[in-house]
Amino acid sequence: MAIKAKKSPKIAKKISKTKESKEYNQRPMFKNYFDNILQTSKSYLKKEFSESEYKDLLSKLQKYKHKKPKEYVNSFNKEYSDLVKKRHQKEYKESDKKFNNFIKSNSSNIKVIWGDCLGALKKMDSESIHCMVTSPPYYNAREYSQWENINDYLDDMRTIIRESYRVLDNNRVWVFNVGDIFDNPRTKTKSVWGKQRIPLGAYFMSIFESEGFTFIDDFIWDKGEVQSQRQKNAGKPYPFYQYPLNCYEHILIFHKHRLDPIRYPCPVCGSLKVNGNTQSEVGLQSWECKNLKCSERSASNRGKRFSAKTNITQSLQRRVSNNEISKDMVNKWRRDIIKFSPVIKINSKGVNTLGHTAPFPEDIPEMAVRNFSYEGEKILDPFAGSFTSAIVAAKLKRVGVGVELGKKSFRKAILKNISNNNDLFSNKLVSEEYDLSKLKSRNLQK
Ligand SMILES: C[S@@+](CC[C@H](N)C(=O)[O-])C[C@H]1O[C@@H](n2cnc3c(N)ncnc32)[C@H](O)[C@@H]1O
Ligand SMILES: [Zn+2]
Repeated sequence: MAIKAKKSPKIAKKISKTKESKEYNQRPMFKNYFDNILQTSKSYLKKEFSESEYKDLLSKLQKYKHKKPKEYVNSFNKEYSDLVKKRHQKEYKESDKKFNNFIKSNSSNIKVIWGDCLGALKKMDSESIHCMVTSPPYYNAREYSQWENINDYLDDMRTIIRESYRVLDNNRVWVFNVGDIFDNPRTKTKSVWGKQRIPLGAYFMSIFESEGFTFIDDFIWDKGEVQSQRQKNAGKPYPFYQYPLNCYEHILIFHKHRLDPIRYPCPVCGSLKVNGNTQSEVGLQSWECKNLKCSERSASNRGKRFSAKTNITQSLQRRVSNNEISKDMVNKWRRDIIKFSPVIKINSKGVNTLGHTAPFPEDIPEMAVRNFSYEGEKILDPFAGSFTSAIVAAKLKRVGVGVELGKKSFRKAILKNISNNNDLFSNKLVSEEYDLSKLKSRNLQK
């Protein structure tokens, strides 16, 4: 039975409590739910979309016509959101079809991309990646990263962050691991006296925010007794010579909220008869359902309030066991100071056994992937290094996409790393590579 508006708050509350009940899922609220609900959205669809887009959407919806209301609502939401995304993607003209097909293809779950990540990002479709996790090159801390001074480095990083903002899906997350370093910023002097602590974490927070991201969290990763035992007191146990060892790194969490003025369908009834509310966070438009036949109304008789973000995060369809985060995992990341070991690269003979100078431990991408994505989604690491992020993503049934500049130095080690990780206990890893300089892809297993 259709639920009428303006019931007493008491009744409305009772009805709203039963909304997830079996009965609601099985019995259509209206005689012909599909036509009824479409009727409430028709004028908006016709105003907002071209005739061909509208017809296309209608024909896609036909196959859901006889589904139960809840299934129809979910399917409509998906088809509509896909249409909105496609339209947004069309606005960007620089993407490369072949390259995006390589990333989208189901033939592998690890995508190894060789080249500069800025070039790769520029070829990628807008909002085509569901989660990002990375650890960037640290200014001049390693042989592979040489910039004239800290400002040049930060400028380069800013350009990459700007392009990533376009590529990351809306209302999604970037987990960014970076440590503050002890080095010469080379902005005033190049002499060894110019060495100081450079607060990369703080600089990155500021860059991310000015490029549109919202800073959400900063986990302090306590690395314990770090491998470097560099004395910071020059052997002088006197005042003004004492500096601590650098034993922690930041794991920063940023959200993307691009203000999207288009309406999204009510997650309860599927209608586009919704009114804009406030921005619940800057860049995040929230909506209120104005379909009086919608089954969920608040105690004060207000329609369902939601946003494009809550449609992702509160999707009951995705709250299934495969996406459930274990108690251990929740507990491990409960505090914003967290201790786990860094990767030990150097063996007792002083030899780097991993083939890469700066891999991060699996703990970081595991948290990013489990906490901020669903199975089947695409996880991107633009500074992939030894491909830790992509491997973890694929093991957790996502698609791991990594871009790495150092093909010559790291290719062998990366391929070995991928094959070593193909164990019996996790999802099978199948990788393919794409060389941006050669513009071609091929299967790594062949
Ligand atoms: C800190 S390491 C990342 C390590 C990685 N998290 C792992 O677990 O192995 C940074 C990596 O970024 C790569 N890199 C530096 N500049 C790059 C660029 N413009 N595009 C792609 N990769 C780049 C470096 O070669 C290096 O492997
Ligand atoms: Zn509704």
